[in-house]
Amino acid sequence: MDIQSAEKRVREIRDRINYHNHRYYVLDSPEVSDAEYDGLMRQLVQIEEDFPHLVTDDSPTQRVGAPVLGKFEIVTHTLPMLSLANVTTEAEFIEFDERVKRMLMASDEIQYIGEPKMDGLAVELVYTDGRFTLGSTRGDGYSGENITLNLRTIKTVPLTLIAGDRFPIPPLLEVRAEVYMGLDEFRKLNKNRDEEGEPAFANPRNAAAGSIRQLDSSITATRPLSLACYGVGSVQGIAFSTHREILEALETWGFKINREIEVLEGARSVVDYHRRIQGRRDDLSFEIDGVVIKVNDLSLQERLGSTSRAPRWAAAFKFAPRQAQTRIRHIDVSVGRTGVLTPTAHLEPVQISGVTVSRASLHNQDEIDRKDIREGDRVIVERSGDVIPYVVGVLTDKRDGSERPFHIPDRCPVCRQQVIRTQGEVAFRCINAVCPAKLKEAVFHFASKRAMDIDGLGEKLIDRIVDDGLVKDFADIYTIPEETWARLERMAEKSARNIMDAVDRSRTVELSRFVNALGIRLVGEHLAQLLADRYETIDDLMGATEDELMTVDEIGPTVAKSVFAFFSDDKNRRVIDRLRNEITIIGRQRPAHRPLSGTSFVITGTLSYMSRDGARDAIKRLGGKTASSVSAKTDYLVVGTDPGSKLDKARSLGVKTLSEGEFLRIIGET
Ligand code: IVH
Repeated sequence: MDIQSAEKRVREIRDRINYHNHRYYVLDSPEVSDAEYDGLMRQLVQIEEDFPHLVTDDSPTQRVGAPVLGKFEIVTHTLPMLSLANVTTEAEFIEFDERVKRMLMASDEIQYIGEPKMDGLAVELVYTDGRFTLGSTRGDGYSGENITLNLRTIKTVPLTLIAGDRFPIPPLLEVRAEVYMGLDEFRKLNKNRDEEGEPAFANPRNAAAGSIRQLDSSITATRPLSLACYGVGSVQGIAFSTHREILEALETWGFKINREIEVLEGARSVVDYHRRIQGRRDDLSFEIDGVVIKVNDLSLQERLGSTSRAPRWAAAFKFAPRQAQTRIRHIDVSVGRTGVLTPTAHLEPVQISGVTVSRASLHNQDEIDRKDIREGDRVIVERSGDVIPYVVGVLTDKRDGSERPFHIPDRCPVCRQQVIRTQGEVAFRCINAVCPAKLKEAVFHFASKRAMDIDGLGEKLIDRIVDDGLVKDFADIYTIPEETWARLERMAEKSARNIMDAVDRSRTVELSRFVNALGIRLVGEHLAQLLADRYETIDDLMGATEDELMTVDEIGPTVAKSVFAFFSDDKNRRVIDRLRNEITIIGRQRPAHRPLSGTSFVITGTLSYMSRDGARDAIKRLGGKTASSVSAKTDYLVVGTDPGSKLDKARSLGVKTLSEGEFLRIIGET
């Protein structure tokens, strides 16, 4: 390729990557498969390697891989990033509205815009001629820290803007936004950190703030952050007349705007909006602590002006806090599958926004020491979303001297063996390979729905079979005779038969489920699937070297080490060998046979020929994807008997539907 055609090609590929990125991350509506997207990325990397002078800061290849900084530079905001006045009750909001009307001498209702108040960290992004050039934290409102490299790693941050007919690209644009972490992403991140022995983040806000202020942007890149835009600073070359218009322009240029934003006529509608969003607070996929209400008309905003702290045309209309005071009765310690000892505070039960809270995770000893948490302490507890409640802090002035400091025991509470703390880790672990607590957790995971799916093998029964010494490893589950099941406490003949049937049904299993079931450290359902996609049989996977494992997409050195160590362990190999005498592991089909690649399915209603999980497995085996809800991305809705509302949704979106018969033909079952 000559230089000129390379330049042209680079431009084309970048445009396409930016376009698909926007479809995927901002609009949630991809048009191409991941493989196609990766293909484009690889082509771009190759050309940039061949012609290094073509690499620019805003190339999609440059989201990650920047040098590590010594410290952040200070950036002065051209317009200060103000804070917001708070109102906490409906009456206070009515007062706010009346003040606005008074100041404007308005007799009509004011038109407002309501936006969720995202609970994250405020940032500013500067775009010069449509290119992302500078990003900073809010700091004290006047100057913040230069976090450009970190913001660049967030996929919802456009590196170049998209021009629209109504909104051409301005020569200068400052965007105001919140960096936040979704609840699912937050839970997953913490789970991994717990397993790694790293301290968990107390809440999504702390996780977002800690992730965006990393001097090494490659760490930020591994954190699932998002950006929600809610305003602008300085803008050149465009005059807006309403806040709504600003949001529309931002959306056109490629920014993610919250779907819950609404135009509201008058104070009554605002109060109604506040109630509605508060009522749905637990259903949202991100954490909010209120709604932000803004006067929509920019000329009115200007007339109202600002104080040195906050604009007079906006208010943060907060929700009832999800905190309460209570007392820690005692602290106990549980042992997880990987042997990590996790302390839990048992609380005097307390209601927090409609939910009774009686336990809170204390995460680890460092957390306990840092907050000086003692048994008997009065504490403030907070819950967010459906994340496990946590202790915000101790009310030390309420102490009467009877409180007892807490230390994780130096022996495992279950097997009484010595626990250890590896250097550099905050977690204490029980390293006894045959600790019953670890075994119970491991069996529980092995039998769970997304793993071997042994229906009925729950916590209580697992306690029994482990305590009775019937199960010392996974393979033992398959050799317990029916009379033994029946003999177990409270087990009627019928339920013994049921559990035997469930065990038998699990004797044929997909490789991906089997790998997930093994409970390899750091390998959950997703990575298990990737490994199963790559390796045809369990033997191939067991024979893989660390270097080879690292060539699997998304698998880095830490996971590769963990997988390799797992399969190198003699004890693990023996268990797998024994398991293989009992079960059949179905490896992947030949790579050519992935006819459903890039196709997305949703299932509704009851299928008569196979279970839903069975149908999902079949789709995945043939390269397709499954989702739990219908969206514009769905290609087919498979309709069983008694379909739910998904069918209406599919019809309204024009998604194709398949009868069970049609579906079976597609997957080759008839
Ligand atoms: S507007 C001049 N809108 O709340 C107006 N702020 O207490 C300034 N925030 O620092 C902010 N969601 O971090 C605005 N939809 C939203 C917001 C929002 C979250 C945060 C932002 C700001 C803080 C003000």
